[in-house]
Amino acid sequence: MPPRRGAGPGAASSPRARLRRLRRTAGLRELVAETTVEPRRLVYPLFVRPGAGGPEAVPSMPGVYRYSVADLGAAAEEIASEGLRAVLLFGVGRRKDAEGRDAWAADGLVPSAVRAIRRAAPELVVITDVCLCAYTTHGHCGIVRNGEVDNDASVERLGRVALAHARAGADIVAPSAMMDGQVATIRASLDAAGFDRVAILSYSSKHASAFYGPFRELEQSTPSFGDRRSYQMDYRNAREALREMEADVLEGADLLMVKPALTSLDLLARARARFSLPLAAYQVSGEYATLKAAARAGVVEEAAAVDETLTAIRRAGADLVVTYFARDVARRAKEAGR
Ligand code: PBG
Repeated sequence: MPPRRGAGPGAASSPRARLRRLRRTAGLRELVAETTVEPRRLVYPLFVRPGAGGPEAVPSMPGVYRYSVADLGAAAEEIASEGLRAVLLFGVGRRKDAEGRDAWAADGLVPSAVRAIRRAAPELVVITDVCLCAYTTHGHCGIVRNGEVDNDASVERLGRVALAHARAGADIVAPSAMMDGQVATIRASLDAAGFDRVAILSYSSKHASAFYGPFRELEQSTPSFGDRRSYQMDYRNAREALREMEADVLEGADLLMVKPALTSLDLLARARARFSLPLAAYQVSGEYATLKAAARAGVVEEAAAVDETLTAIRRAGADLVVTYFARDVARRAKEAGR
């Protein structure tokens, strides 16, 4: 303890720093709160399914639906009216084959969905997931040759997928296949076709994770053999994650993303100190399902737990958060007049 000058009676036992002074009332706490989770920072994932008919519920993800193209316009309008600014679109192959050809079809589900959203909610930022796993019969994120995912053949296809999405009107394309050089190839493919204005959000540090299970059920994209560890990141490695991000910056990424979110907080903090690009974090399907299940079991209070996780993700350094809770958060913000 440093000696205190001019300390009055009793001062020796009175700590100088009383941090509780600013926690005393809600007004004081609000005045000094450092981190906020505004709806404008949240991205809502949207799933397109083939066929017609209303939204389809997903058993493992209560509150999440798969929409037909015909229904997406109305959903997008509603999402925008709730105060959200961006959606991340996922499609699925109408026909699956070994190469995932339907992923770059001009009339595919994602291009059709982008056009529908553009018409219904022109101000909404449309981001599209660029991958092959929901389009290939084997469920891997690339082209399989001799039992292995061939990097360069896969990257060439991802360039075509991104271009199909850009042609339909996507603002941002988001490659999630974890192939080396995917950002550079997509950038070149977009630029060559005159889409230099379309941005790239790279899933730079994407772990081979146990938390994607509900998503794969939703997208019918579970690999039919092996797993994704030969291309997705090993979650034991932080320096390697930073190398992935650095590579994507050099290849021309406009935004970087890490996922899962809650298991990547250290990576967010380190990336925040190192890169000046906007950073995103994806609170993935398993993180959502886990919180939902805990809330349903009465173990945590859902809104409070969701707010705490999203705030931590923001505090660690994320500018944007992709989350299945985005609509709930936006609705609560609206109700509270925030
Ligand atoms: C496609 C992709 C996946 C996710 C986003 N893009 C699945 C995977 O890699 O298996 C996961 C999203 C989630 O779990 O919410 N490659």
